[in-house]
Amino acid sequence: MLQSLKGRDFLSLKDFTKEEILALINLAIELKSCHKQGIRKDILAGKTLAMIFQKSSTRTRVSFEAGMFQLGGQGLFLNTQDLQMGRGEPIADTARVLSRYVDGILIRTYEQKEVEELAYYSQVPVINGLTDLYHPTQALADMLTIYEHKGKLEGIILAYIGDGNNMVHSLMIGGAKLGMEVRVATPIGYEPKKEVIEMAKTFAEESGGKIILSNSPQDVAQGADVLYTDVWASMGQEKEAEIRKNKFQGFQINDKILKLASEGAIVMHCLPAHRGEEITHEVMEGPQSVVFDEAENRLHAHKAILAALL
Ligand code: CP
Ligand code: NVA
Repeated sequence: MLQSLKGRDFLSLKDFTKEEILALINLAIELKSCHKQGIRKDILAGKTLAMIFQKSSTRTRVSFEAGMFQLGGQGLFLNTQDLQMGRGEPIADTARVLSRYVDGILIRTYEQKEVEELAYYSQVPVINGLTDLYHPTQALADMLTIYEHKGKLEGIILAYIGDGNNMVHSLMIGGAKLGMEVRVATPIGYEPKKEVIEMAKTFAEESGGKIILSNSPQDVAQGADVLYTDVWASMGQEKEAEIRKNKFQGFQINDKILKLASEGAIVMHCLPAHRGEEITHEVMEGPQSVVFDEAENRLHAHKAILAALL
């Protein structure tokens, strides 16, 4: 199964089968266990990953860079401000040049079509480290976290409360592929994109999963195994932050919402979190929160992606 991933791009979970996603999760579990036992796997000795960042990052940047090192390779952090790309060199040229030097390219940027263009011109695998549309590496790490805490993925009820953004798009697609029930509650006007909803519904039909859209946080939280949220204003939406603060009142994971979820439900957030907005300090620091396991799993999931693709 992993052989089918060699040389592929990682732009969205929509491009991967259920079996391929599960194979990546299994590889992440294996690499995590080796890491915990201090066993070093130099799978990527001599290989380099170019890491282009047009937006800020703590987790994605550090976990990919550390992950490359732990696999015997090297990550090369490239801020777009310092690249000629920042002065207008076309993506198509950047892709062809970098492909001559490195074995893979990670990119975090605004538009999904920039990542697709980079992948089109690149001779080496391209990994989407977040766009306005998707955040697939996070969603893969999240599936690993859910599997570890709940022992399964199929049939799991994940309730996402908040903005219909890149994060929920990737969770809907990943969850639908894996046979989960993904319920999404957003304020009116902040729903996920229609085409992503349609796509996820098609995947859910194939897997036996379910996609449910709502404007009621209470309805989606009822009996859920996982409560998930993300910031109300994503990177690039800073100017809308104040308006969104009003519109999103009530779309918060707090003690009251948590009580509606199933007993032993876990609380997830991709981070960074804004305590007092989408999640309360109490829930974030409470016993049901797995947010730091989730953050840790970025490292293990990313190592699996790198080992499989590069
Ligand atoms: N969750 C996530 O992608 O975090 P960073 O923005 O810190 O990379
Ligand atoms: N939706 C958030 C995720 C950050 C990891 C953003 O795009 O800013």
